[in-house]
Amino acid sequence: MTEPGDPNDLRKDASLLDGWLDFRAADVVSFGTPGHKQRLDLVGSVVDGDVPLYGGVDTIRQQAGAMANADRKLARLWGADWGRISVGGSTHGNQTLVLAVCRPGDEVIVTRTLHRSLLLGMVLVGVTPVWVGPEVDPVTGLPTRVPVDRVERALAEHPAARAVFLVEPTYVGTLSDIAAHAAVAHAHGIPLIVDQAWGAYFGFHPDLPRHSLQAGADAMVTSAHKTLPAYTQSALVMARTERIDRDRLDRAFDATATTSPSGTIAASADAARALLERDGERLLGNLLRIVDHARDRLRKVSGVVLLDDVVDRSVIVDRAKLAINVSGTGATGLGIEDHMVAAGIPIELADRDTVVPVISINDDLASVDRFVDGVIEAIERERSTPRSVLPSISWTVDPQVVISPREAFFAPHVTVAADAAIGRVSAELVAPYPPGIPVLAPGERITSEAVEGLRQAMADGTQVRYAADRTLATFQVVADR
Ligand SMILES: Cc1ncc(COP(=O)(O)O)c(C=O)c1O
Repeated sequence: MTEPGDPNDLRKDASLLDGWLDFRAADVVSFGTPGHKQRLDLVGSVVDGDVPLYGGVDTIRQQAGAMANADRKLARLWGADWGRISVGGSTHGNQTLVLAVCRPGDEVIVTRTLHRSLLLGMVLVGVTPVWVGPEVDPVTGLPTRVPVDRVERALAEHPAARAVFLVEPTYVGTLSDIAAHAAVAHAHGIPLIVDQAWGAYFGFHPDLPRHSLQAGADAMVTSAHKTLPAYTQSALVMARTERIDRDRLDRAFDATATTSPSGTIAASADAARALLERDGERLLGNLLRIVDHARDRLRKVSGVVLLDDVVDRSVIVDRAKLAINVSGTGATGLGIEDHMVAAGIPIELADRDTVVPVISINDDLASVDRFVDGVIEAIERERSTPRSVLPSISWTVDPQVVISPREAFFAPHVTVAADAAIGRVSAELVAPYPPGIPVLAPGERITSEAVEGLRQAMADGTQVRYAADRTLATFQVVADR
């Protein structure tokens, strides 16, 4: 493995990391928050390293300008006009972008592979989605891309749409043609916004996809914490200001941000940005090598199919991602996950037919081999008759919007038995997790396909979240519909 440069050198280029290290080295007796006062004697090391942004990494009055400096460097590296480091995850970034771009009553074109955070951003603003579904790979049952002509058709039917929102890459590492989508959106005079939560490293190696702004999008959000060596909750939000107002972006970001940001989380995102800038290509080259190594080993396992081996060649894929179909082994992804968790190797996503690990620049050959060994061992323990693939309802849901998500969210609701709920309008959001894609959203007609798909996911062992009744025996529906 190639050795990274000295982490301490990163501070020269990362003002938040520099402030964090200075604070940790100084003999400070703080009379501000947080109440743990940097002392570990009451609750122990769980608070070790927790430094606030204001009154820690920088002064309360931000006299060092450390955050502004870090935001400027972020925007510059991604070629954006505006950039902010968030400590609220891509959840906060998605809400920021809906608040910045849309107004109450707007329609927007949105991929149904969206994360619930984007949908709840629509509830906040009062936007009605016009859904476009992804194509699904017939061999693995996994989503591939949103065809451009589906968006074109949606725009022809909804010419007043305010924006196009896509999620790129999908949870399984496939991408749409973002440049073509940007051209279509721009031809209609509207921005293309991309939730790139899973692709923080895009654009930093020639064998990886370009990032969304390079491909022509107007704004993107990415979770630094998902794939970069940064603290949980850290995210990066960036935009070009040709089609999106800079002041609205700031107001939208601040509207849903905590007023007590963790300086530690922000400093780790700044450090990750500086690391990508300094060592990104080298580290990502190594990542691609170890993922290829895992791929070579997994290909030899009878019954295992890798998405990027079978997907239509014209679909863009993230080569740093592995999406493993196990239906041909007779083992289930969820059964494999149980073995892996018991062996101390938790994985990001498992459902009936699929296992998707996160392999990052912090992995090496040894850790990846441990993952592959664990998968192979679990498959061999569970091996049985091969099954045909059953695409998850998360990728195939066909939503019927009756009223806006906001109207349904605030409407009086009643609880009815599942059978009686079919045909009614959902008051709640219900999503198998992972991936957290709503199968039912507030304002949508509850169909028997959606209820059966959710029950199937539950029967397979996937957790279904956010429903008031997690057994799905009852659903909450809008009272007067
Ligand atoms: C596509 C997508 N967008 C946004 C999010 C939310 O990200 P975060 O957990 O950083 O808030 C997720 C989380 O899994 C996601 O998968």
